[in-house]
Amino acid sequence: MSVHQYLESERTRGPASAAVRRIFSEIAPRYDLLNTILSLGQDRRWRRVASRMVDPQSGERFLDLAAGTGAFSSALREIRPDLRLVAADFCAPILSRMPAGAAARVGADGLRLPFQDETFDGFVIAFGLRNFENPGMGLRELARVLKPGGRGLVLEFLRPESSAFGFLYRMYLRAWVPLVGGILSGSFSAYRHLTGTIHGFFSRREFASLVEQTGFRVIEARELTFGAATAVRVQKIS
Ligand SMILES: C[S@@+](CC[C@H](N)C(=O)[O-])C[C@H]1O[C@@H](n2cnc3c(N)ncnc32)[C@H](O)[C@@H]1O
Repeated sequence: MSVHQYLESERTRGPASAAVRRIFSEIAPRYDLLNTILSLGQDRRWRRVASRMVDPQSGERFLDLAAGTGAFSSALREIRPDLRLVAADFCAPILSRMPAGAAARVGADGLRLPFQDETFDGFVIAFGLRNFENPGMGLRELARVLKPGGRGLVLEFLRPESSAFGFLYRMYLRAWVPLVGGILSGSFSAYRHLTGTIHGFFSRREFASLVEQTGFRVIEARELTFGAATAVRVQKIS
């Protein structure tokens, strides 16, 4: 199936929004701790590398979509303290855990953003898109709110294409993450769901093709920690 067909098909419909909100409300209190444990301390480094890739400039207006506890906003703020930053998420309990002053908080669904066209110079989204009911629609909405030539950074768990690493990665996701995540968060179903969304999501090649059908061009894609996560830098086609 081509990515175009995929985009239009039912398979693009991710988990329903209400279920996603419930899952993130449940795991919000332990979300940051679990990220650190499950990524073996790598997730903070991934966001730092990704922040440098998107290279925000003084005074620019940036959107951190699916911001969760604001970890990406904090990484951006570290390298550019005077960035005008908006953190949006549709799950109030997780967004409320964002440190004060990291960004302006907005409760919003990424599929229907409450911003005018061409509001932002750039956007970031980390580990959020694969939870969207329709990731292609989310990317188009991001293109809408970006200024012409605006840039973005998607940090995501894309399926590795190398079979050796892919095998280890699948084992890690199937066995270790649901077990440790379940024990520490108290919600086995939440972590089963989260790893399930990774298996069902795009490979790197498929994702690049999706991005290029939604108003962007891919500028650079960088594998992090042997491809466990991928940072994709994009630019809006003017
Ligand atoms: C795995 S967390 C990522 C949080 C943060 N970006 C990070 O790097 O840790 C995914 C977030 O996406 C949010 N999310 C999922 N679907 C969304 C949507 N349609 N609109 C807005 N936020 C959404 C969830 O509420 C959750 O906070």
